[in-house]
Parts: sequence; structure tokens; C-alpha cells
Amino acid sequence: MTTLLLHLSDVDEAGWARRYAEALPGITVVRQNEAFDPAAIDYIFVWKPKANAFDGLTNLKAVLSLGAGVDALLRHPALPDRPIVRYVDADLTQRMTDYVVSQVTFHQRLGTRFKRDQAAHRWTQLYPPASSEATVGVMGLGELGTDAVEKLKALGFTVLGWSRSPKAITGVETFSGDQLDTFLGRTDILVCLLPLTPDTTGILNYGLFKKLRRKLDGGPVIVNAARGGHQIETDIVKALGDGTLSAASLDVFQVEPLPTESPLWGLDNAYLTPHIAAISNMVAGVRYFSRILLDHEAGKALPNVVDRGRGY
Ligand code: NDP
Ligand code: OXD
Repeated sequence: MTTLLLHLSDVDEAGWARRYAEALPGITVVRQNEAFDPAAIDYIFVWKPKANAFDGLTNLKAVLSLGAGVDALLRHPALPDRPIVRYVDADLTQRMTDYVVSQVTFHQRLGTRFKRDQAAHRWTQLYPPASSEATVGVMGLGELGTDAVEKLKALGFTVLGWSRSPKAITGVETFSGDQLDTFLGRTDILVCLLPLTPDTTGILNYGLFKKLRRKLDGGPVIVNAARGGHQIETDIVKALGDGTLSAASLDVFQVEPLPTESPLWGLDNAYLTPHIAAISNMVAGVRYFSRILLDHEAGKALPNVVDRGRGY
């Protein structure tokens, strides 16, 4: 009998368990706080696993990650040497593109500038650029970044992309590796969709902000929907205060929940959301992982396995 263990924090584990049980009638589904034999667990489905999550799972076949990003999972001190399958699904991609498009469009239309005018009861007819006059640079051209650049392009934006390895995407000028500064020098609105790795930690810092183009009224903008570890928040506060950046949309933070005393809360040119840019939807997630589990039991290879050497 194949057994799936759910070990989730900060999400509705009971709801996921119910849906898995419905989708996998021939599979035993257990939750972390139920009685089970650890040696009988074949698959573990995790989000923010606790220190003891993998204890005794001697016959584990794979770790299934509810999240697309696996940086925290890879730092787990007891992570077993088993394949990690991350979440890659059209539903998640759509949700992230919704977020990116909403934020990019808001800033292209000088949203925080008009919010300031509204707060001051000030009528200033400043004309926003057309989308084609604003250049959006997307860092990370993976599952999420590729869809975002394609949708932004379809809306009329001039779109650039930067990734580790070279990419060819129709209508999008792409840069890779050490071409970062050229990419930044042509970017008005910078979107971060990178995985968090040692190479990308702290990449959104004051030095990088200074390299962005200053064509948009008020200055460049950043949008971070990836991980808080990408950003240096003291640098963002400084840059938003001294005009190096005109605005920022941040969905992720160095410490989550964002501490109440963070100066970011009080900035009228920052738009903050509580790490909800793209949530892993239960219906779509159960469909995705159930298919993978059943296929694997039938002898097929696991898809979307994390490359531990690269860190994503
Ligand atoms: P992918 O692994 O599919 O894509 C990652 C992209 O980043 C690739 O293009 C990769 O380059 C590029 N990259 C990695 N390292 C570097 C580097 N050092 N320099 C330049 N480019 C680099 O990831 P996804 O698109 O699926 O997800 C991206 C991230 O989004 C996740 O890791 C997660 O942290 C975050 N996320 C946030 C959510 C939220 O709600 N806020 C929801 C879901 C995900 P290459 O193509 O050459 O490998
Ligand atoms: C993810 C996330 O990585 O929700 O999927 O942050």
C-alpha cells in the first residue's frame, strides 16, 4: 500500500488531506499529527517542514514541495537525499502573471505618484507613458518569468529578460550572466522572479538600483515577487526616500510576517502584499501532485525535479 504523508505549516493541511484522499482512493493519506509508521511513508508533501519532518522516513521515494521555490526546503538540516519535485503548474503561473501585470501596469501609470496627489488633494495632470514607452526588465526567465514577459509583451510593453543561461523568446530581448549591467541600464521597471540561491541573495541592493535607467517620471521601479532574501530592505527604504527608486511593489520580505516596526509599512511609494502574489491552489495542486505520484508508481520518471547543485 502506497502512503502519502502531509507535513504542512501555515496552510490548511486538513483541506489538502481531504482533497488528496478524494483524488487518490487507492493511496493512504496521513497527516503529520496522526499515528503512522514512518518506514511506511513513500511520499511526503511539504511546506515549511518542521525539524522532525523527515525523521524515520527510511523508505521515502520523493519529497513533493507545495511551493515552487525550494530555498527554505534545501536549507532543512535533515532533508533526505531523495528527489524533490517542486510545484510547476499553469494555475500558479497565471496567478503570478496576474500579480506582475497588475503591478507593472500600476507603476507605468505612475500609480504611487497619483496616490500621493490624492492624499494631498492635488490636481496634477502628469501624463503617464504608453506601455511601449516603458521598458520592463524581468530577472529570471523560468516557468514564471517566461510567462510574465510574454504577457507583458502582448500588452505592448518593451520587455527585456535576464537569466543565468541564454534564452530566445520571440519579441523579448534577452540577456544572461554577466550582461546584467547592460540589462539594468535599459530597464525602467525591474521585476524579480529569480529563485533564492547564494548567487541571487541580496541582489536587490542600492548599487543595483543605481544602475537602473532613469527615464520613467520620478525614476525606476522595482517589483519583487520572488523571495525576501533577494532584497536588502534598508537599501530599498533609502532608495525610495532619496529618489533612486520612485516606487516599489514588494510581496516578499527578509522576515515574514513583516515586523510591525519595519519602515516599509509607512512608505507611500511602496505597495506591500503579504506573500500572496501566487498561492498554490488546492484544486490545481492536488491534481498536479496526484498525477505525478500515480505516474511514478506506474514507473514513470518524476518531472520538475530540483537540481540541488544549482539550488533551484
Ligand atoms: P524557475 O526555476 O523555473 O526559473 C528560475 C529562473 O531564474 C531561470 O530562468 C534561471 O536561469 C534564473 N536564474 C537562476 N539563478 C540565476 C542567476 N544567478 N542569475 C540569473 N538568472 C538566474 O523558477 P520559477 O519561475 O518557477 O519561480 C521563480 C521563483 O518565484 C521561485 O523560486 C520562488 O522563490 C518565487 N515564487 C514566489 C511566489 C510568491 O507568491 N511570491 C510564488 C511562486 C514562486 P536559467 O533559465 O538559466 O536556469
Ligand atoms: C512558492 C511560494 O514558492 O508560494 O510557491 O512562495
